[in-house]
Amino acid sequence: MSRKVIGGPTGTGRDPNAKLLRVVDIKTHFRTEKGTVRAVDGVSFTLDRGRTLGVVGESGSGKTILSRSIMGLLPKRNVVRQGHVYYEGTDIIGLPDEEMRHVWGSEMAMVFQDPMTSLNPVKKIGKQITESLFLHLHMDKQDAHDTALALLSSVGIPEPEQRLNEYPHQLSGGMRQRVVIAIALACGPKLLFADEPTTALDVTVQAQILNLLQQLQRERHMAMILVTHDLGVVAGRTDEIAVMYAGKVVEHAPTPVLFSNMKMPYTEALLSSIPKLDYPSHTRLEVIPGRPPDLINPPRGCRFAPRCKYAQERCLNEEPPLIAAETPGHMFRCWFPVGSPEGEEALSRNLAAGASASGVPVTDVPMPASLAGRS
Ligand SMILES: Nc1ncnc2c1ncn2[C@@H]1O[C@H](COP(=O)(O)OP(=O)(O)O)[C@@H](O)[C@H]1O
Ligand code: SF4
Ligand SMILES: [Mg+2]
Repeated sequence: MSRKVIGGPTGTGRDPNAKLLRVVDIKTHFRTEKGTVRAVDGVSFTLDRGRTLGVVGESGSGKTILSRSIMGLLPKRNVVRQGHVYYEGTDIIGLPDEEMRHVWGSEMAMVFQDPMTSLNPVKKIGKQITESLFLHLHMDKQDAHDTALALLSSVGIPEPEQRLNEYPHQLSGGMRQRVVIAIALACGPKLLFADEPTTALDVTVQAQILNLLQQLQRERHMAMILVTHDLGVVAGRTDEIAVMYAGKVVEHAPTPVLFSNMKMPYTEALLSSIPKLDYPSHTRLEVIPGRPPDLINPPRGCRFAPRCKYAQERCLNEEPPLIAAETPGHMFRCWFPVGSPEGEEALSRNLAAGASASGVPVTDVPMPASLAGRS
């Protein structure tokens, strides 16, 4: 069977009426000496053109491997991949790199965490931007130069003409990440992944870069998947949020719904660990006790059970399926959801006993003013 070629100048094989991205039951497992690491373990979602999805979870929950699985940027050896990634209606999972080269840059692009590792230290910035313009858009030298200048201006780099002739080390961290964004946007991708794009940057620069990404996403009507460990980062910047834990999406909801009516104790715990402005020195209120599970031998029941203050006996034995909440687009996996009568009862029982069924100590942590009153 011949495969459709997508992307490229003619874009044959794409269906403009199909969803921009439909990810179906993606599994990415790594074979290691110690066993199989289930890094991504059955993730599904769709994303429309121009929409923004936040992917949130602690370090090691599978966010980067999920993004790389969708883009086809995984190591070649000892990886088992299953599932489908439909991009404009065509399944791109497992396409050879020669075909994916039509997709990278011109259809999907990624901004990585550390600008120093994504830029070539020995190539001038101008050359790094124009390379993809020659390759994908077949521009001549003058057009590529003019486009590079316009791109640098659009990402807020002062004196862009001069910057084109500089090397990455001559720029500050924030300016380097702006260059990385310019490179990612050079060929007008319809989907941008931003994987912890500000983690390596100074706190004062972080908000500027996030705001720039949001502005560019809107101006270009580009879809964006913003990956972060911090719920605070995606709060005002995304249409929907998928919360990941131990390789699975445990809650997915439109952003306002997630914040007003979260169902997962894990999402609640993540929210409680955001530094709050109404607390002195942005202190972390509560750190989630324990560590994420071993992905080679995850717990039998709910993967969050060993750390969950709502956990009951059932949680230790039965894995909760992903089910739909009352609000359209809201899904979660939990036997004793936050705010439900069963959840309240489970929490009170554990509070009275001083520990949950899995032994995690439970204390009544007062909600900060900013959270009190949410239903
Ligand atoms: N090449 C690999 N081989 C084995 N395990 C890996 C490999 N790459 C990532 N992992 C594991 O997959 C899990 C998910 O990693 P990652 O997606 O990078 O997490 P996150 O981005 O959420 O911090 C982690 O437990 C990590 O150790
Ligand atoms: S209450 Fe049970 S099912 Fe829900 S998150 Fe906690 S351990 Fe998992
Ligand atoms: Mg990561």
